[in-house]
Amino acid sequence: MVDVTINGQARKFDGDPSMPLLWFIRDELGLTGTKFGCGIAACGACTVHVNGEAVRSCGIVMSDIAGKQVTTIEGLDAKGEHPVQVAWRQLGVPQCGYCQAGQIMQAAAFLKTNKSPNDEQIVEAMSGNLCRCGCYQRIQAAVRAAAKGA
Ligand code: FES
Ligand code: FES
Repeated sequence: MVDVTINGQARKFDGDPSMPLLWFIRDELGLTGTKFGCGIAACGACTVHVNGEAVRSCGIVMSDIAGKQVTTIEGLDAKGEHPVQVAWRQLGVPQCGYCQAGQIMQAAAFLKTNKSPNDEQIVEAMSGNLCRCGCYQRIQAAVRAAAKGA
């Protein structure tokens, strides 16, 4: 049995402990904001927070998250008003939107560790999150804006 907290709610999982966290989030809890992109921890679409750090939920299994706090895009802010979300809206970042939850979760975790990053640090921090629509310039601009309080 794996006990875990997801978006502030205690959850139990008694299935295969080697199942990726992404399947628990999407298929068992129905939190479909977190996306499946590659399944091999290479694209960032499935990024969530585990104890506040950005983690690829396709690359971590249920037994790894026992006793931990997981936050998905649905739990980042009750009203969708996290500074990163506000900046994302103001700058109209998404194109198709598929990668965006992962981008936002990555950016939110990064800005917790670096509240006034320079451009190089932003590019570096976001470089592992792929966007097939090529929204990189708007993503970087939105991270910059969010760092200033959006
Ligand atoms: S789906 Fe997890 S990193 Fe691509
Ligand atoms: S907005 Fe389409 S993949 Fe990033």
